[in-house]
Amino acid sequence: MSKLIEIVKEAGKILKYGYYHSKRIDFKSEIDLVTEYDVKIENFLKEKISKKYRDFEIVAEESFKARSIPQKAIFIDPIDGTTNFVHSIVYVCISIGIWEGGEPKEGIVYNPVLDELFWARKGEGAYLNGKKIKVNKADNLTSSLIATGFPYTKIKMGKDYRWVVKTFSELLPKTRDIRRLGSAAIDLCYTACGRFSGFYEIDLKPWDVAAGILMVTEAGGKVTNHLGEEYKFGDIVVASNGKIHDELIKNMCKY
Ligand code: IPD
Ligand code: CA
Ligand code: CA
Repeated sequence: MSKLIEIVKEAGKILKYGYYHSKRIDFKSEIDLVTEYDVKIENFLKEKISKKYRDFEIVAEESFKARSIPQKAIFIDPIDGTTNFVHSIVYVCISIGIWEGGEPKEGIVYNPVLDELFWARKGEGAYLNGKKIKVNKADNLTSSLIATGFPYTKIKMGKDYRWVVKTFSELLPKTRDIRRLGSAAIDLCYTACGRFSGFYEIDLKPWDVAAGILMVTEAGGKVTNHLGEEYKFGDIVVASNGKIHDELIKNMCKY
């Protein structure tokens, strides 16, 4: 693992440089941005990681072509929080999740701006900068700070958008408050280390969650879909400290 951390830290230097300098921005859609650094970091990681994990296939956001998920997969999000990256908001990270047979085995989420490195391995716990982390103990929504995110599809004001708004209006009055930081990987890590008591979001991609959900479960939390069933890629993700999970699910609207 230390070699992988070394690689991610190197990639983090590229991210941090880009964060403090001007950058070229392209548009995947009207509101979905991609910068030269997303591509640069992804290429760097793919080259370094493919040498270390020869029998794994890399599934990386900027080069992903629709296909089934390989048995042995390494999910890479070169910058999770690209909109933050463009607007100089500190919630940006590199997220790498290693999966085998449909299960997460290892995960790293690194925010080089705040110098916070989250790491987890199946059965070995989750860590922030080398210190073991645990979910918090909040046992009701009123004492819970919850995180969420909004899908890029919101501009179409379709089914996803309606679910987001309805669920938000159900939940918000019952919680201490709800945050939208702009990086799903960081939201999951903050749930793992107890800053948030829970997180939910619709429409996330495997590279957004592949590392973060292992962080939550290894820190003693729970991850399911919005019906409380086992989470599968493509589902609405609901992550929590476990104690508030049922109450959180109860307030999720039908999709
Ligand atoms: C996005 C972030 C954001 C979430 C979006 C994601 P990106 O990833 O995780 O918090 O709300 O749905 O797509 O585009 O910055 O890699
Ligand atoms: Ca992402
Ligand atoms: Ca990204």
